[in-house]
Amino acid sequence: NMEIVFPRLFFAGNRLLGERVENVSRTLGDLRGIFADVDAFSRMPQNILAYEVSSFLPEQEGTPGGLYFGITYLHPGKVGNEYFMTKGHFHANIDRAEFYWGLEGEGMLILMDQLRRVWAERVFPGSLHYIPGGVAHRMANTGNTLFSFAACWPSDAGHNYREIADHGFAARLLEVDGKPQLIGV
Ligand code: F6R
Ligand code: ZN
Repeated sequence: NMEIVFPRLFFAGNRLLGERVENVSRTLGDLRGIFADVDAFSRMPQNILAYEVSSFLPEQEGTPGGLYFGITYLHPGKVGNEYFMTKGHFHANIDRAEFYWGLEGEGMLILMDQLRRVWAERVFPGSLHYIPGGVAHRMANTGNTLFSFAACWPSDAGHNYREIADHGFAARLLEVDGKPQLIGV
C-alpha cells in the first residue's frame, strides 16, 4: 500500500504554515533611502508596516535545481507621490529567472536590465509575469488596498540588494494626476 500524506505546506489566513517557512516584515524605516522625497519620508512614522513576505524554502539556500515560493503582502501608501514599493534586487546569480503573479489588489512590476533600461507591467489578480535572468525587479502598490502577489524562484538565485541600494532604478513610479507614471531619473 502506497502512502497518502497531508501536504507539507498550506495557507492559514494570509500566511503559509508548515516547516521551512520564513516570515519577514519590512517597516518604512527598513526602506530608508529608496524613496525620492526624503523630507516626506522623514515626516512619516518609521515603524509602520510596508510589506511582509511569507516564504517556503524547502531546500538549503544555494541548492541547484530547487525552487522557492513566497507571497508578499505590500500595504498601500505613498511617500510624497511615490507608491510604497519593495526594496528590489537583482539575483546574486544574476542569470536566475523568476515568476511573479498577482493575487489581490493592484500594483506594478518595475523591471530594469543590466543596461539600466526600465519598463513596467500592470499586476492584478491572475496576471502572470516572467522575470528573465539579468533583470532587477521591484513591486509597487498602486491601489488603496492590500496588494499581494506570489513568487517562485530558484533556490540558487540569491539576492543582490547592494546594486539597487547604491544606484536605485533608472526610473521611479510616481502618481501624476491620480495615475501611475514611470518617470526617468
Ligand atoms: C524573491 C523575490 C520576492 C521578493 C519579495 C520582497 O527573489 O523576488 O520574493 O524577495 O517580494 O522584495 P525584496 O526582496 O526586494 O525586498
Ligand atoms: Zn527575486
